[in-house]
Amino acid sequence: EVSVTSMTTREVLATRVTEALNNLFPDEESPDPQLTAATRPEFGDYQSNAALSLAKKKKMNPLQVAEEIAKHTKTDDICEQPQVAPPGFVNFTLKKEYVALLLQKMLADPQRLGIAPREKKQRVLVDFSSPNIAKEMHVGHLRSTIIGDCICRVLEFLGHDVLRINHVGDWGTQFGMLIAYLKQVKPDALIGSTTTSLGDLVEFYKAAKKKFDEDSEFQETARREVVALQAGDESSVRAWSFLCEQSRKEFQQIYDMLDVKLTERGESFYNEWLGEVCKELEDSGVAVRDEGALCIFVGGHTGRQGKAQPLIVRKSDGGFNYATTDMAAIRYRVKEDKADRILYITDAGQALHFSQVFEAAKRMGYAKPETKLEHVPFGLVQSEGGKKFKTRQGETVKLKDLLQEAVRRAEEDFRNRLQAEGREESEEYIKRVAHVIGIGAVKYADLKNNRTSNYQFSYTKMLSLQGNTAPYMLYAFARIQGIYRKGDIDLNQGHQAENVQFILDDPTELSLAKMLLQLEEMLFLLERDLKPNILCDYMFELSQRFNQFYENCPVLKAETVDLRTSRLALCKLTANTLALCLHLLGIPTLERI
Ligand code: ARG
Repeated sequence: EVSVTSMTTREVLATRVTEALNNLFPDEESPDPQLTAATRPEFGDYQSNAALSLAKKKKMNPLQVAEEIAKHTKTDDICEQPQVAPPGFVNFTLKKEYVALLLQKMLADPQRLGIAPREKKQRVLVDFSSPNIAKEMHVGHLRSTIIGDCICRVLEFLGHDVLRINHVGDWGTQFGMLIAYLKQVKPDALIGSTTTSLGDLVEFYKAAKKKFDEDSEFQETARREVVALQAGDESSVRAWSFLCEQSRKEFQQIYDMLDVKLTERGESFYNEWLGEVCKELEDSGVAVRDEGALCIFVGGHTGRQGKAQPLIVRKSDGGFNYATTDMAAIRYRVKEDKADRILYITDAGQALHFSQVFEAAKRMGYAKPETKLEHVPFGLVQSEGGKKFKTRQGETVKLKDLLQEAVRRAEEDFRNRLQAEGREESEEYIKRVAHVIGIGAVKYADLKNNRTSNYQFSYTKMLSLQGNTAPYMLYAFARIQGIYRKGDIDLNQGHQAENVQFILDDPTELSLAKMLLQLEEMLFLLERDLKPNILCDYMFELSQRFNQFYENCPVLKAETVDLRTSRLALCKLTANTLALCLHLLGIPTLERI
């Protein structure tokens, strides 16, 4: 009798193979079933590679071991007879009835598509976006924001308790220069005038820096400001707050455009504990003094002269730095936030910093042995042709301009399409489509790449209706949803959905069905590896399989009512799955594009 459990199919099969292994090799302690998705279509749906390593260990013939495993694994309720392939694989192909049953379960649950929230819920802190005050938020921060948001959405969907933390760079010696400059050029900002605006903050930063580099008297003033700020001097703190507030407003515009939610907890938040942290590090011996600086020697990292490169937590002038803050942050995140897993989404250039910070935090006990600390690195954004990302004038590109340009081009494309097809839409709808496609295209183009590689930014490619792009996926969703709607049946009600009998006789129906069922395992992979491109690859493959199905199988004009209902249900499931995936990427769906 076939039944559905809360385990994924892979887990069910893994359990079954393990049972067989326990019977066959009773002296083996916790044998690994080595169960994976099939690496080739002719291997069926799943395969076990356990025979290979076991045979080697026991000096047996791997093919024979595989035969034994195939014979002793109880799978007849969910699989066809397992097949053995040289040199020793055991291949499993799911039975159509079992696939149909799982589809029913998925259809009956339009919100979660049959995916239960994780029973073992973790508290995950995701440190992402994290731009620096009074400096520009550049394309690297855009990548962090987009990737971080997607990861949060997936973890939230899987039922984890997610803290979205914006670790903004709102502290450090550069504030001395900024405050000193502010006091000179905008004294009214300090008497609480709320209308004062700095205009372009990046320009302000540049001007302050210029003055700092050229004027030695100003340098002295700036240094005094750092001290005053750290001592809590009222006017300096007020100037600092003003600068933070101005930046915050600018950053918020970008977050609003992207529809990304973040809780700001910048570097300054940890300020009061920096001294204490250094003391603990030194007292415990984790950190030692070296040439006046307080250093942690972690890993075998060597610097330029072949000297060991330590993690410096207090400079020889007594100043704290980026690393001190990160040490204090881990302490807080584990102790106060009770984080089980902490993710840092930054460019790959910070890999060394994080590996040192993580090791130091483990040694110090700030992170528990079981706390998962993970740097989630990403590559550079380049312009087409692999060059540095700049405007034609050689200036760095402003994020707001970049996003607005994507929306503008999406609007142009949409208007052209409407005209060519003789369609009409309200101005309001046109604006909405332009926004969703424009922003969605930027997000999708970023997420679909393996995040560790560099990616080339191209408006033309990301806005194309063909290929693995946001417009294509939005179009696929709208089209499939449209087909379902034409069928004029309502499968949204649980009891109706449960009664749908899936008929999977055409190979394209079965192939689409199996792809739909891979959603959950794909999300579990994403939860572990934090690579959003697997979500995009999944969607693309799903839409390809849908196209094959739709070419081969009449839906609205299917031969029988039951077949028509089954095929409409496949449309509905595909549309729901695409909608969920788009949602997890941070892209809303559109009814028509
Ligand atoms: N503000 C830093 C930057 O712009 C990123 C901070 C990342 N988070 C952290 N906890 N260090 O490069």
